[in-house]
Amino acid sequence: MTHFGISEDVALAAEILLNGGVIGMPTETVYGLAALALNEDAVVRIFDTKGRPRNHPLIVHLGPTTDFREWGNFNEHALSLAKVFWPGPLTILVPRTALVPDWVTGGRDSVAIRVPSHPMAQDLLRRVGSGVVAPSANKFGKVSPTSPQHVLDDLGVDVDIVLDGGICAVGVESTIVECTDVFQILRPGYITSEAIRQCIGTSPEGSSGTSRAPGMLASHYAPTARVLLVDSIQQANDLFAELSADKKVRILHFDNVDSYAESLYEELRKSDNQQYEIVIAVRAPNSGLGIAINDRLSKAAAQR
Ligand code: TXA
Ligand code: MG
Repeated sequence: MTHFGISEDVALAAEILLNGGVIGMPTETVYGLAALALNEDAVVRIFDTKGRPRNHPLIVHLGPTTDFREWGNFNEHALSLAKVFWPGPLTILVPRTALVPDWVTGGRDSVAIRVPSHPMAQDLLRRVGSGVVAPSANKFGKVSPTSPQHVLDDLGVDVDIVLDGGICAVGVESTIVECTDVFQILRPGYITSEAIRQCIGTSPEGSSGTSRAPGMLASHYAPTARVLLVDSIQQANDLFAELSADKKVRILHFDNVDSYAESLYEELRKSDNQQYEIVIAVRAPNSGLGIAINDRLSKAAAQR
């Protein structure tokens, strides 16, 4: 297929998707590698392009006017969350309907669904009029992309077009909450467990832990540089003094958690491009969005 590079042409991107192509799709969290959920060949191409095992389940993205109940069986918790947080950076895991094929869920009975809030994603999904699966548009195990250039850097001509929706405002992947016979957070994100508790009235399980969705390996979101985690700037400075004599070392730190989330993947990529050997990252306070940042940091720092 022709490779169109980075473009703002939503109509062309929709046409490519409808013809079975694979595109870079902007969302408010990270860029996705998108294909029609109901087209098996296109979905297989996603797995091949990412180098991702085929049994790892994918998130189905829907437009704001699509009836999400065609894709999943929503219990009361799921309906309340959809009403409050969609469109937005929340993925809801529910039992799948007969419409959802095995190649989307890896044969599981549940399906992960999300209605993104990014205006260009909404425009695209509206034009397509059906479910679009989109894992993050990076090579398997690597740092997620938060700009169109990141997608091109990682996947090159293997993606038919990268829709240019600018820099992702949130910067870390969506929160995944399971609403089946269990109510639990599988991956922390921008929508905090506290916000979910306020919506539902009870706390989901796994509110403070690291992600537990299948395929969320301990080593994930990993740059080439070694990542070392510390709890304060003082500790970071001490470690820097110790290591920088014979290594190229930098410190990663933000006072504001929103800026930390937005810039985290960009900074990890920059560290690799500038050939840093070690990144000393200061953990965020372990509450709210800080939980998601620390989850991604600990995966970036995990032994490979
Ligand atoms: O913010 C996001 O969620 C981004 C943007 C592009 O929407 N997408 C994303 O997709 O992060 P991905 O594939 O990189 O991560 C999705 C996670 C995986 O860990 C997968 O195992 C889990 O969701 N997941 C998807 N469907 C599932 C299912 N049926 N059961 C359990 N986990 C599921
Ligand atoms: Mg991913």
